[in-house]
Amino acid sequence: MSQIDNQMTEEIKKRRTFAIISHPDAGKTTLTEKFLLYGGAINLAGTVKGRKAAKHAVSDWMEIEKERGISVTSSAMQFNYDGFCINILDTPGHQDFSEDTYRTLMAADSAVMVIDGSKGVEAQTIKLFKVCVMRHIPIFTFINKFDREARDPYELLDEIEEVLGIRTCPVNWPIGCGKSFKGVYDRFSKKITTFTAAMGGAKEVDSQEFDVDCADVDSLIGQDYHQQLRDDIELLDGASDELDMERVRIGDLSPVFFGSALTNFGVETFLEHFLKMTTPPLSRKTLDGKIDPFRPDFSAFVFKIQANMNKAHRDRIAFMRICSGKFEAGMEVNHVQGGKKIRLTQPQQLMAQDRKIVEEAYAGDIIGIFDPGIFAIGDTLCASNEKFQFEGIPTFAPEHFARVRQVDTMKRKQFIKGVNQIAQEGAIQIFQEFNSGMEEIIVGVVGVLQFEVLTYRLRNEYNVEVILEKLPFEHIRWVENPGEVDVARIQGTSDMKRIKDLKNNPLLLFINSWSVGMVLDRNPALKLSEFGRA
Ligand code: G4P
Repeated sequence: MSQIDNQMTEEIKKRRTFAIISHPDAGKTTLTEKFLLYGGAINLAGTVKGRKAAKHAVSDWMEIEKERGISVTSSAMQFNYDGFCINILDTPGHQDFSEDTYRTLMAADSAVMVIDGSKGVEAQTIKLFKVCVMRHIPIFTFINKFDREARDPYELLDEIEEVLGIRTCPVNWPIGCGKSFKGVYDRFSKKITTFTAAMGGAKEVDSQEFDVDCADVDSLIGQDYHQQLRDDIELLDGASDELDMERVRIGDLSPVFFGSALTNFGVETFLEHFLKMTTPPLSRKTLDGKIDPFRPDFSAFVFKIQANMNKAHRDRIAFMRICSGKFEAGMEVNHVQGGKKIRLTQPQQLMAQDRKIVEEAYAGDIIGIFDPGIFAIGDTLCASNEKFQFEGIPTFAPEHFARVRQVDTMKRKQFIKGVNQIAQEGAIQIFQEFNSGMEEIIVGVVGVLQFEVLTYRLRNEYNVEVILEKLPFEHIRWVENPGEVDVARIQGTSDMKRIKDLKNNPLLLFINSWSVGMVLDRNPALKLSEFGRA
């Protein structure tokens, strides 16, 4: 192997690329900040992004939208820690951006699930979790906020197992919570780390580490807690699943950690265990086989497009995950879907609030490339003499639908261009009536805020006024086997509507979820799917 290949292999081996998922407010931002602090990527916690960005109302969002701060749609942050090069994929907190989050998960090799210890598994976590399960990626759980009153840890684990359908293996175990939070016990090192509540607003706690068998345990955590801990250890060692890394790697078993991101308690231990348990970038599937990350030729796929960073120029940034080899600024690559060779210029990487131009990057890294409007989500880029396609990114089921009509029909061209571009970015999905063309379109979105964003952007960027008429449908299914069934003759229910996407793939819309089952019963040959392929 040449020296250059050796260096590339070393760089790729160091990469760890993961996404943090959580229900809003569980502590994702706080945990990310702490991670970045360990990597020295930022000097002060609190600068990752405007927290409020995740919680703002529609009107605020429009303001932010105008400025297009990184806050709403930042994509990835990179930092070095303990010999690893870590890429954290940021996932928007606001549930209206969840489709972006789903897609971001496609670029990750593993996920960290943050759960609020007082609330347990919440709605948004369930949805995001489904995507991780679909991809069989490892899921690590951080149960947060143990410095506050929290639910019984056994109950929390049961809930994760029942609601999410994944087994758990606690790596550490909390001793008390809230005002009487004593610390955590590491089941593998058999050490206790004590928690001492922060004084005077200090954001980091003082902690000490000592052996669970040492003579002072009673005085350090109190006799009662010590007894409870002994019982817990016995129970856990006897009853919980073993930490089988094979099961962790396929997403069947989640290692669980307890801690408090705000007080920085348990965060470093988590990071250390996590980095040891995760793998470097894995192979990625293409339509004809797998691509090994260590092969020297560059390849990547686009998982997110961020529009109008600068409104005046209507430019876009396409974010891509590098899947193999080394990227060098200015290199020529084959844009497979576009059928063209292109030069990748102005590559960017994000670090907290700064953007920097990258000269080189490796498999596992995320880069943003200036996009003159040629990329779509799911596109493959590979060495200029190659031509393969990574498996498409699933199109996630929209949950809200509206018919969109133009006010001024003379502006047809701008209207079509606008909705198409916004759809390419993945903010909306567009459909047509089953038996007609683009005279009228139906828009589907994951979060209702996107309807307002659509109206706003069509007005401001494309000078087109539209009227949205909300439709009552909530469930969408792609017909998986249109070659085998005549979609026009499907035995439907009264609340079913046939539509098609822009590639003429047939879909069905339903108002009630039970109708889906009924239609499947009535049409035995029909196969329906909740996900489409971009
Ligand atoms: P998110 O990104 O998942 O939406 O959550 P974020 O980190 O923004 O945290 C949500 C709120 O929970 C924040 O409080 C944050 O300070 C608090 N928090 C996060 N981790 C912990 C923890 O370990 N313990 C406790 N007690 N609180 C925690 P906020 O008041 O909404 O925001 P701020 O005013 O502190 O910025």
